[in-house]
Formats: sequence, structure tokens, C-alpha cells
Amino acid sequence: MHSNLPIGSVRSRLPHVKGSIFSALSRVAKQYDAINLSQGFPDFAPDPRLLESLATAANSGHNQYGMPEGSEALRRSIARMYEDLYSLRISADAEITITAGATQAISAAVSGLVHPGEEVIFLAPAFESYAPSILMAGATPVCVDLPAPRFEVDWEEVERRVSPHTRMIIVNSPHNPSGRCWNSNDVDRLATLAERHNLLVLSDEVYHNMVFDGPHITALSEPRLRERTIVVGSLGKTMHVTGWRIGYAAAAAPLTAELRKILQFTTYAAPTPLQQAMAQVLDASTYLSLPALFRGKRDRFLAGLRGSRFESVPTSGGYFQLLDYSAISTVPDTQFADLLISEHGVAGLPVSGFGTQYANSRLLRFCFAKSDETIDKATNLLRAL
Ligand SMILES: Cc1ncc(COP(=O)(O)O)c(C=O)c1O
Repeated sequence: MHSNLPIGSVRSRLPHVKGSIFSALSRVAKQYDAINLSQGFPDFAPDPRLLESLATAANSGHNQYGMPEGSEALRRSIARMYEDLYSLRISADAEITITAGATQAISAAVSGLVHPGEEVIFLAPAFESYAPSILMAGATPVCVDLPAPRFEVDWEEVERRVSPHTRMIIVNSPHNPSGRCWNSNDVDRLATLAERHNLLVLSDEVYHNMVFDGPHITALSEPRLRERTIVVGSLGKTMHVTGWRIGYAAAAAPLTAELRKILQFTTYAAPTPLQQAMAQVLDASTYLSLPALFRGKRDRFLAGLRGSRFESVPTSGGYFQLLDYSAISTVPDTQFADLLISEHGVAGLPVSGFGTQYANSRLLRFCFAKSDETIDKATNLLRAL
């Protein structure tokens, strides 16, 4: 079959992927000089000690290949974070791996642990990299839709979608885009399901440091999930430097060994001076202050919208607030997002970017991980609609 293709012709491995909705909307926001609340990144400066440590690392010779598993000092700092936050002992040597962002941790975990022909369940609305990562591994994505606007998991429905080919389930708490966080019942149901069907669990917990109303429950703290779960995290999110592209995976040694093999042949190792700088600064004073910081930003965003025609969906973790615009317009969400940028100067992300089936749920996602000034400007504009 391939021999009939003209030389140089391309058969896409990901024919349905049209490019990232996040970068596309950020580009349009720039074009209209709109306030960009569509993509999840902070517009405030990181800890100055982090920037000083980066300069020191680069100026003192930390510029060559690191180890594929990542800097030992940074892996130890992450292990300490899990001990401080969750009283969990995770081996820095055998169970923690540094990656180029959580995005790479997700794709390496799927590629390293799922075989062609197997199925991977994920729950929509979902972060954009899950389905392509599954497809790139030659596996089949099985999408279970969560009902808008609260996106609570219907575990009976999840169980119905398990087949003899299911190998992994990808879950996400705090959830992007809704900000919903698991309760202990969700974790219990997940553990029962994973045990019953012998599934691996990929638990995307990149917003674990930003839980406002109660403690975050990491999947690794559930004994029935400890040996079958890969948790992915993002130091870009935790340290307000998403462009540094540093994340990690935490998993039992046999899972970690397979994931590391994939990393070795994709990036070989994450950037050395960035890891060195993060290791110097990542301590309890960084992560213990984050829930209050982001709770304050969520509350400021909601206070700024008081009296507006947008209706907020309760958010208990993460970077984002969902707003329902039904009282303002009945157009599909991408159309409303375009109007909001071009006529009102604010960019929000349509929830259909996380699953086209949500185009008529009339929800946009706004990132409140912004300076107070940006939040106030944006809410003044949104209140006027
Ligand atoms: C749920 C979720 N998972 C993973 C990522 C990727 O994180 P990173 O920037 O560390 O690759 C994001 C980033 O927005 C996210 O929202």
C-alpha cells in the first residue's frame, strides 16, 4: 500500500489534530490586544530566587546533559513535597522522574505502558494531550463524557465502558476545565474499578498545589492504587514558570522503569540548569502558600463578576473558573469566544476545546492565575456584557 504513495506524500498519524486551541486563541487575543484569560499561565513574576538560581546554575557550569531520570536534587525536593503535603514516602531514586512538562510525562507514561490495540479510558472534557498520546501509542482512546456543567464522574458509566482490552484510565483532579476536585468516594470508586479490571491509572494532578476547599487527595495515597498509578505533576504550574517545561511522574519502580525508557529516547533528559534552579527553591514555603494565593485570586475574580450576567460554576481547585453565558447569548461557545475577544477585549476558552460535544453547553473557561490588575480589568469588561 505504501509503495503506491508518491515520494514525500504524508499520511498523518493524527489526522484530526488541527493544532493547539490554546495557542490559537492566544494568537487571536494578541491580534486584538485582548486580555488573555484563555490559556493557563500566570502573568505575574516567579520567586526572584528562582531567576537568581537559574543564572547561578548557568554561570557555574550546569549546562551539559543531565541524567535521563532527572536531577537528583530536584527528585529529592519533590519527594520531600509529597512527604510534607501527604505524609507519603516516594523514592526519589526509583519512583520519581523529571520530564519536559507534565505533557511529556503523560505521553511517556502512555507510550511506555500501553500496547498497540489496547484501550485507554479518559473522561471528557479532557486536557488536549490525552487522546493524541493514546493514538501515538497505537492504542484506542475511549472517551466517557461527564455531564455539564458540574462534570461529576458517573462511575457506573465508566465501568460500562471497560472492555477486555482496557489497560489504563486517565483521570484528572483538580479538573481542567471545571476546577472540580475528587472526593474520597471518587478515589474509592476508582480504586475498586482499577482493581476489579486490573487497570493502570494515569492520574493528572498538575494543579494539586491549588486546592481551595479541603485537602487534595492524591491517587498515590490510596493503598489499592499505589502500585498501579502514575501521578503526573507540573513544576511549571507550581513555581509560576510554565514556559520552563519541567514536570514529573511519580510511580512504583516497575512503572517508572518503563516510563524512563521512553524519555531516554525522546528528550534524553530535561534541561539541566532549569532543574538545578528549581531544586534550590522548591521548598515548603513555595508550596504551602499556593492554596491561599490561588483561593484569593478565584475569590477576586468572582467578586469582580458580582452583578454580571455570567453565572459561575463552583470551582474548588486549579487555575480556572467556568462561566455560563446562557443569559447573554445562545450562540455556540467558539462563536461566543470570538465575539468576546473582538468586541469586548477578553479571551476565554470555549469548553468545546476539551470535547466538541460541549459546544452548546454555553460555558467558557477563564484563567484567574493572573495579577490583581489583570483580574480587575477583565472582570470590569465582563461585567459590562
Ligand atoms: C490538566 C493538565 N494536564 C497537563 C498539563 C500540562 O502541564 P505542563 O505545562 O507541565 O506540560 C496542563 C497544562 O495546562 C493541564 O491543564
